[in-house]
Amino acid sequence: QAERGALKDRIRRLLKERNASMVSHYYVHPDLQDLAEETGGLVGDSLEMARFGRDHAAQTLVVSGVRFMGETAKILSPEKTILMPDLDASCSLDLGCPADAFGAFCAEHPERSVVVYANTSAAVKARADWVVTSSCALEIVRALRAAGRKILWAPDRHLGAYIQRETGADMVFWSGACIVHDEFKAFELEALKQEHPRAKVLVHPESPAEVVALADAVGSTSAILKAAREMDAQEFIVATDNGMLHRLRTQNPDKVFHEAPTSGHGATCKSCAHCPWMAMNGLAGVVHALETGANAVLVDPALIARARQPIDRMLAFTA
Ligand code: 13P
Ligand code: SF4
Repeated sequence: QAERGALKDRIRRLLKERNASMVSHYYVHPDLQDLAEETGGLVGDSLEMARFGRDHAAQTLVVSGVRFMGETAKILSPEKTILMPDLDASCSLDLGCPADAFGAFCAEHPERSVVVYANTSAAVKARADWVVTSSCALEIVRALRAAGRKILWAPDRHLGAYIQRETGADMVFWSGACIVHDEFKAFELEALKQEHPRAKVLVHPESPAEVVALADAVGSTSAILKAAREMDAQEFIVATDNGMLHRLRTQNPDKVFHEAPTSGHGATCKSCAHCPWMAMNGLAGVVHALETGANAVLVDPALIARARQPIDRMLAFTA
């Protein structure tokens, strides 16, 4: 505890000395979320993190999250120094969608608009017409469908299938999955609902269709937070990374939150759904990066030029 306090003090001091700002995703350790908030940075979903990084005046940004979030910040602000606590913090969606194979898939469908989830490498984004996050994917695909476009979607198959069900768009899919959300199980969730009949179910759309079908609200991390604040209920079951519970409980101290169950653990699992890559972010990593300049995110300038366009389109659409 004392060591954590000392590390936090060092980070506060280093952020000031380096004129740096901190952005943290809702899934990282509560210490990193609290530090970002109290130092005037941001805790947010991936879309909010991208916009904040682009618009903030600080020349150094510490991004606590996973690699694609740091890369997006760099693509939007190539002149800034983007630091991460651990550059090996990846994402199963990013790892499961290599740029070469993805390029070949796109070449098979030249007539389709290429829509890729933000959870991808800069090289995959460079091949896209649109980048989307879970908080805007539905609206963007709806607009593309209204404009008569057919879609090539990558990489999360559950999110893609959810959007297809909701919009009726003509879509072909890359078959990727988030190893965290893919584990939520409908049978065990039904059982937990019976134990807590008044609880409303909040689900991130990276979860399987049978789990989404049991939801009272489906949405991105920010949409889940909004639903928990605004829904007329005192009890919730949450199917997303359990890093979210910190924020949910802080914002709603009178409400009760249960974790949705994951496979193999039945309805009693208490802390199974946590992204191993988000968990790589720690206080010591932030200190190391700020003190030494290590863990700076670098993106090939040729890729930056091409990946920026589809990200800018998303930011303009959601402005
Ligand atoms: P958000 O876009 O909702 O922040 O989600 C990012 C993510 O990695 C979800 O697993
Ligand atoms: Fe990727 Fe899933 Fe981790 Fe989000 S929770 S960063 S989608 S592996």
